[in-house]
Amino acid sequence: MRVTEISMPPNIALIKYMGKKDEAKNIPSNASLSYALGNLKSTVRLTNLENEIDHDEWDNQSQLSEIEKTRFIHHLNFLRKYFNIQQYFEISSNNNFPAGCGLASSASSFAALTKCAITAFGVKISISEMAALSRQGSGSSCRSFFSPWALWKNETVEAINLPYQNLIHHVIVVSNSKKDISSSEAHRRVQTSLLFPGRDKRAELRLEYLLQSFEDKDWAKSYKILWQEFWDMHALFETAEESFGYLLPDTLFVLNYLRNYWISYQDGPLVTMDAGPNIHVLFREDQFEQVEKIKQFFESKFLVL
Ligand code: DP6
Repeated sequence: MRVTEISMPPNIALIKYMGKKDEAKNIPSNASLSYALGNLKSTVRLTNLENEIDHDEWDNQSQLSEIEKTRFIHHLNFLRKYFNIQQYFEISSNNNFPAGCGLASSASSFAALTKCAITAFGVKISISEMAALSRQGSGSSCRSFFSPWALWKNETVEAINLPYQNLIHHVIVVSNSKKDISSSEAHRRVQTSLLFPGRDKRAELRLEYLLQSFEDKDWAKSYKILWQEFWDMHALFETAEESFGYLLPDTLFVLNYLRNYWISYQDGPLVTMDAGPNIHVLFREDQFEQVEKIKQFFESKFLVL
């Protein structure tokens, strides 16, 4: 029995992918920049089924919801059609972190599914082609093929060489319950916000400033840009015609603590959020004392990954 197993990391966007120019192909409205979260991973295992079986089956250990399973099969069908392959599989998908709460599990699981399927098909293609196919399953997954930094614009995603190669990442999990509004739905709804026109220009300007701040090693400037960027995205959520949001009282508690920390010490972690209530922090390697201090503070109240 042939078994193929692939693990891929999630990634956290510093400049966000929010809004699509082409929904069918997941072409983003603006360029985005991400950092791969090497300590977290999604693992997909595909076990070849007998030739006469004409549908996929699920391993009962898989952690996906029914909606996620439907999206997975849809993407697998897309890949089978693209490569003209008839093989069906028993599918297993697991994460070593809680899924569906803004920890970008769809990025890592679609990246792992795409790479695993292509490996199981026995097809040899470049990483860039793989990433482009993965993007059509879930946009942000294309960035998980490049580590640690990935820059995605239109149909092209590539590694980008930036000074900080070994950031220390933690996520403060204030809630790990599944979110009501999926990222795909968020991409649709933000287009109805009166703040959406101009969003692409703002994001791309911030991207330019952020890359410059990294080159200049101006950490405080990078922190400010990231802060403005995730608030921009959450403001789009709140001001959509059908308003929605992910922030919980504990989210604001954590954000206030981190802002006050920066005000007190004139240094601290980069802070960002995905489409969820949890807070991502990224430290430079030389900030290990701050990592322990901040971790210790939050660990008494929340799960810190
Ligand atoms: C808020 O890639 O999950 O995490 O392409 O519809 O699958 P689909 O959306 P998805 O969107 C991710 C949005 C985000 C920001 C980001 O990762 O850039």
